[in-house]
Amino acid sequence: MKHCQPRSARVSHTHHIPLSALRRVAINNDLPPALPLRDTLNRPLRDLRISITDRCNFRCTYCMPRERFGHSHPFLPRGSLLSFEEIARLARVFAGLGVEKIRLTGGEPLLRKDVHKLVAMLAGIPGLELTLTTNAALLSRQAQALKDAGLNRITVSLDSLDEATFRQMSDSDFSLSEVLQGIEAADKAGFKALKINMVVKRGVNDEGILDMVRHFRHSGHVLRFIEYMDVGETNAWRLNDVVSASEILARVHAGFPLEPLEANYPGEVARRWRFADGAGEIGVIASVTQAFCGSCTRLRLSPEGKLFTCLFATQGHDLMPRLRSGESDAALAGWVGGIWAARQDRYSELRNQAQLGDSGEKIEMSYIGG
Ligand code: GTP
Ligand code: 5AD
Ligand code: SF4
Ligand code: SF4
Repeated sequence: MKHCQPRSARVSHTHHIPLSALRRVAINNDLPPALPLRDTLNRPLRDLRISITDRCNFRCTYCMPRERFGHSHPFLPRGSLLSFEEIARLARVFAGLGVEKIRLTGGEPLLRKDVHKLVAMLAGIPGLELTLTTNAALLSRQAQALKDAGLNRITVSLDSLDEATFRQMSDSDFSLSEVLQGIEAADKAGFKALKINMVVKRGVNDEGILDMVRHFRHSGHVLRFIEYMDVGETNAWRLNDVVSASEILARVHAGFPLEPLEANYPGEVARRWRFADGAGEIGVIASVTQAFCGSCTRLRLSPEGKLFTCLFATQGHDLMPRLRSGESDAALAGWVGGIWAARQDRYSELRNQAQLGDSGEKIEMSYIGG
């Protein structure tokens, strides 16, 4: 599996904030944050996930159930979205704060017009790995342009290889073959070792686990099983619907013996396993049964410029007024640094300890991304 470059070899980002801007902040007594930024649990900021639209051409039942995301759903008005220029400016600020990986997500990011142009703007920022998560329905048309623009990696969400189950889960007019063509086009365009994310829901698609394994063994792509999570407020999540990572592994291992692999990098959310016969590797993401908050280095930016310090957050921090009132990059960086320094989130761990209070409505995954 490829990752751009080892962390130790990556460039230092401290120099991205112009010195003049830092001085200006210092004079304001608003000192730039010391790097690397650390939150209250000593976790560094490394990853930024940018959701570029809250719209999607699928209506996955576990994410955007049609009865809650119908024609009258108040999606964000287009004028309220961050422009590509604003996103690129923020990406530079974040790179200066230690961010090493940016993931473009949504909703479905390929619905945003000319997304390859955004990729090209972000690809010019030194030291950043640039990745994208998509349902792949529109990927066959865009894969080459994304590659040419400088996108490093692609993750595809695909929950079943059975047409009826695929349609039932994604609840859209797209067919499975369009998604598979998207994967093929990405491969042809030169994206290697795609990650294929399968959310496993008991009684819905779990019978297809081994079909997915058979299909993606030997493909060079990395199939990853995700425990179904209680994100948002609309998917009527129940613990009984979750197939645990250990059960998934036992089922795969019974058909295709597995051996554990080391993580690619500290804090990787997926646990890696390889097929004993050399047919490649898989991953399991056990966000429900084995929470990984202790190493969570992720910050999320919503389509209209709010920062969220956790996937399960109820409140965001609005960057937009600052962005559009002419604040300097250094002032923005100082503000973000303060948010990260105050970060305490560890929702999944608290869920497991049954220590969650009722703190309000959680944001939706279709709004903030996977
Ligand atoms: P790479 O290693 O860069 O390929 O990315 P990744 O392993 O972070 O994978 P990806 O971004 O595709 O995330 C996979 C899935 O893990 C997401 O779709 C979520 O379901 C889950 N996930 C990712 N980040 C978090 C997180 O911070 N908290 C929780 N609870 N789940 C997460
Ligand atoms: N639980 C786990 N993963 C989810 N995703 C969306 N909703 C959920 C959920 N409730 C995943 C999608 C996709 C990524 C964007 O997030 O399958 O891979
Ligand atoms: Fe499905 Fe992803 Fe769209 Fe949600 S954002 S409905 S998981 S394709
Ligand atoms: Fe990070 Fe929140 Fe997910 Fe824990 S639950 S891993 S803190 S995003």
